[in-house]
Amino acid sequence: MSETTPDLEQQVAILKQQLAQAQKMTALGELVSTTTHEFNNVLMTIINYAKLGLRYKDDASRVKAFEKILAAGQRASKITNSVLGVARNRSDTFEPTDLCSLVEESMVLMEREFSKYRIQVDKQFNKVPEVVANGNQIQQVLLNLLINARQAIKERGQVLIKVEHDETNQTVDLVVRDNGAGIPAEKLRKIFDPFFSTKAGPDETGKGGTGLGLSSCRDIIDAHRGKIRVESTVGKGTCFTIKLPVARKQALRAPVDGQTTTATVPQSVTS
Ligand SMILES: Nc1ncnc2c1ncn2[C@@H]1O[C@H](COP(=O)(O)OP(=O)(O)O)[C@@H](O)[C@H]1O
Ligand SMILES: [Mg+2]
Repeated sequence: MSETTPDLEQQVAILKQQLAQAQKMTALGELVSTTTHEFNNVLMTIINYAKLGLRYKDDASRVKAFEKILAAGQRASKITNSVLGVARNRSDTFEPTDLCSLVEESMVLMEREFSKYRIQVDKQFNKVPEVVANGNQIQQVLLNLLINARQAIKERGQVLIKVEHDETNQTVDLVVRDNGAGIPAEKLRKIFDPFFSTKAGPDETGKGGTGLGLSSCRDIIDAHRGKIRVESTVGKGTCFTIKLPVARKQALRAPVDGQTTTATVPQSVTS
């Protein structure tokens, strides 16, 4: 081997870095595609009602036009907030996070797509403790699961999103269940492998087909010291469960001035 050829370990490290980069780019591409679609829809509403308001001079029509424009503007602002996550931690740090509001906020991005494909979304949000999480990354996981669910259903179906506290294992569980096509056993083993995909390429909304969605979900959940599980029945549907350790207050060693500080750390998942 020549001196410049990286050894096997280096090659693996380089490939891992490239994989992480590809995962990021895929996620970003899908987010841009989702946001653009959603924004375009809001803009159409605003433009159409502005035209209506200009055309009809009576008060009732104008009030209606303004109300519609206001609602659309507010929706646009929710979408940007969801992408930018201005209200919450969107740096690289892990912070105590309320999973329910994170899920609620992320759903804004998918609402129109789900209604377009006539998919009913049921939410079951229970009272849960905070988890130590990176908001951006968990939102990414959720979007990946929801896009997969939508693509497995194709047209008409149901998706259930549940957030609940598993007291035995001290985890907060995020469940995404669909009644789509399901996954046969021989494929189920491979779905978390990078580049494993049964899709021909991106669909009409520009999403899927890279085989990088679930591999990045698994990497993100590993980094959170959590677990991701899947159950599936062909013809019935698929259910993903993500278990994230509950944030707990832990007393740190007293600093020199004798005061005790607290920090929030993830508990390891015991199941
Ligand atoms: N909810 C689901 N229902 C059925 N099959 C799924 C579901 N989620 C994932 N899959 C299968 O797992 C494969 C890998 O998923 P993913 O890593 O997101 O890649 P991609 O969506 O780009 O194909 C998909 O191609 C599909 O065959
Ligand atoms: Mg996918």
